[in-house]
Amino acid sequence: MTRVLRDPKSDVTLEYQPGFGNHHVTEAVAGALPVGRNSPQRAPMGLYAEQISGSAFTQVRGVNRRSWVYRIRPSAAHPEFRRIDNGELRSAPFNETVPSPNRLRWGALPLPEEPTDFVDGLFTVAGNGDTMTHAGIGVHLYRANRSMVERYFVDADGELLLVPQLGRLLVHTEFGRLGIGPTEIAVVPRGIRFRVELLDAAARGYLCENYGAPFRLPERGPIGANGLANERDFLAPQAAYEDLEAPVQVVQKFGGNLWAADYDRSPLDVVAWHGNYAPYKYDLTRFNTIGTISFDHPDPSIFTVLTSPTETPGLANADFVIFPPRWLVGEDTFRPPWFHRNVMSEFMGLVHGVYDAKAEGFVPGGASLHNTFTSHGPDAETFARASTAELAPQKIDDTLAFMFESRWALVPTRRALDAGHRQPDYDAVWSGLGRQFPRR
Ligand SMILES: [Fe+2]
Repeated sequence: MTRVLRDPKSDVTLEYQPGFGNHHVTEAVAGALPVGRNSPQRAPMGLYAEQISGSAFTQVRGVNRRSWVYRIRPSAAHPEFRRIDNGELRSAPFNETVPSPNRLRWGALPLPEEPTDFVDGLFTVAGNGDTMTHAGIGVHLYRANRSMVERYFVDADGELLLVPQLGRLLVHTEFGRLGIGPTEIAVVPRGIRFRVELLDAAARGYLCENYGAPFRLPERGPIGANGLANERDFLAPQAAYEDLEAPVQVVQKFGGNLWAADYDRSPLDVVAWHGNYAPYKYDLTRFNTIGTISFDHPDPSIFTVLTSPTETPGLANADFVIFPPRWLVGEDTFRPPWFHRNVMSEFMGLVHGVYDAKAEGFVPGGASLHNTFTSHGPDAETFARASTAELAPQKIDDTLAFMFESRWALVPTRRALDAGHRQPDYDAVWSGLGRQFPRR
């Protein structure tokens, strides 16, 4: 089934195929897709057949990911890649700074003043794990004021989860186009070529580079067969291709560094494809948020949109968790998050609005990092308000915060620690929490 929709966030008319992890079948030109076989002696229309395996061949069906693409030229036809400067992009192993027990917070990353595309503007905040053994994540920000023109990017180290905070994007991929804007996300699988076109004057957002197992939907357990992010709301692109024969640059992140090669054509020349290894988008406002209808609140895992599992059941390499608009109805309940320490490490961002656990300082485009077992929770002002509030049903509205949560401490980069937009006095938000217990 194909769904044509005028994308409300990107305002671009695109065709999508709904479903999460579905085996999609799509062609940009009628008859381009071979029928009944993957690798016929001659593919239709003089196209080249190519299989892209996103999982080991023998992995079980539930996680097996592969697509067959039919393209104008085989992707193998390209010259040597050479190392280029990494700019402000960093990668695992994250060892530029000493891991510290301190809580960190940043204001919004300033937008670029010089002409800057998506790749030029990548700024790494923190990360963990290893790109070669495929564990952990890189946490980046993107900022751009120009589209990628005759320039393409591919990340061999991890899949990319884009969380736009400012500006709409048209993401042109080998598999077709995804239009996204703030309150939506897009995921580009590892090893897939793409370029980012800006639909507004400037763009900024968060980027989770997942070195581990590809994101999937979390198990629902006792919730049942529905709720949280529903499968049908995920959209994969319809096949679309660029027939461009011109010198272009393909930038590749491989083993933690940037490399570039000069191609003689666009690498986005796939005319038809079928399979379940493909980019996708999701509108976070479709998330079916679940919470208490009596007292207390469930752990924030109830807000998980996507999870990258590890070999240990229930332990995530990375979770993508959102704090969307929702009703709070808990009786005799402190409604913002209570004070907590967590073995998992929490990187938080804010797409828009106000996060209910902080009165000020946590701004759209900003971020906080609460690493493993660091103490955090509501600031003094939020504590005072929430512990004396009249507990009528309350709608938290016009806000979208999110968290990249990871099993290991996230080590910040040197540039992130030294950045002018870091808030060095973050600890002060908890300093007003005085003693209430009477002295005896
Ligand atoms: Fe937390």
